[in-house]
Amino acid sequence: MTNEKMVAEIQRLKHERDAVIMAHYYVPAEVQDIADFIGDSFFLSKKGTELSCRTIVLAGVRFMAESCKVLNPEKTVLLPASDADCPMAHMATVEKIREQRKLHPDNLAVVCYVNSTVEIKAESDVCVTSANAVKVVSRLKEHYIYFVPDQNLAHYVAEQVPDKEFIFNDGYCHVHHGVSVDDLKELKAFYPEAPVLIHPECRKEVLDLADHIGSTSGIINFVGTSDAKEFIIITECGVESELKKRYPDRVFHFLPMERGKKDTEGGYAMVCPNMKKVVLERVYNALKNNEEQIVLTDDLMARAAAPMEKMLDLSK
Ligand code: 13P
Ligand code: SF4
Repeated sequence: MTNEKMVAEIQRLKHERDAVIMAHYYVPAEVQDIADFIGDSFFLSKKGTELSCRTIVLAGVRFMAESCKVLNPEKTVLLPASDADCPMAHMATVEKIREQRKLHPDNLAVVCYVNSTVEIKAESDVCVTSANAVKVVSRLKEHYIYFVPDQNLAHYVAEQVPDKEFIFNDGYCHVHHGVSVDDLKELKAFYPEAPVLIHPECRKEVLDLADHIGSTSGIINFVGTSDAKEFIIITECGVESELKKRYPDRVFHFLPMERGKKDTEGGYAMVCPNMKKVVLERVYNALKNNEEQIVLTDDLMARAAAPMEKMLDLSK
């Protein structure tokens, strides 16, 4: 089937199933192009709760579809690429969370980055995304913060909210954590005038070189507030599609696949292999076969919904 025919079929099936397609900025451009809504993790979490459709196709990784199901238990939530899983989502454990609760019985909040499994969310007090973590944590009454799973986002938030005492976990996103100061300095040497926009999943020493630190949407929106013509973008390369659509007169530079080369001389280094599994054909198959449906027990959904809803409330 040609792509054109597949897009037409997706539109027909969407209507038949009363479905809406929501996509994260890191999935392939061909899927972003046919999505009804594109956004970062926070936008996707919030938007789902505002929709009246019967079915949501979550073009992203598993934790995003699970979050969507938890917040919309009455809807059918489809995950097109059932093998699209975020490794960081598994880098926290229920046992360690319970240990920390014993150590700080009265004054601890377990703060869970949404990039985590539903089981970890269910053990947590509040969820955050990279877009709202500083705001949410600063509004908590507890003094001790056990932040899971991402160490880099945790350190970034700890710096912004210095009155809290953080307990760190050792999880990381391999796409962002893999960026070194030397990688960035090499790219900066090619484009010394370009402001550097970085996602907070990167290491502290890399963030220290940023002109702006922000979530995926934060980075995209920042470009609109700046007079600069060229930008260095340190996050997953999927954002290029939206950046080019919104700002056709600006130029964006991403980390090249090979050190010492310009970004124009080959592929990009920051590619999330799991997000890239969500190709057009899998979105089509998801709608055609009505799968993979996210199925969670009522108990798990109810326990995970409380910290997700608290996040939506505290980030208003
Ligand atoms: P945001 O969508 O919060 O920017 O997070 C990026 C990410 O790594 C999603 O998997
Ligand atoms: Fe997970 Fe990183 Fe991929 Fe996001 S970019 S899904 S955090 S591995």
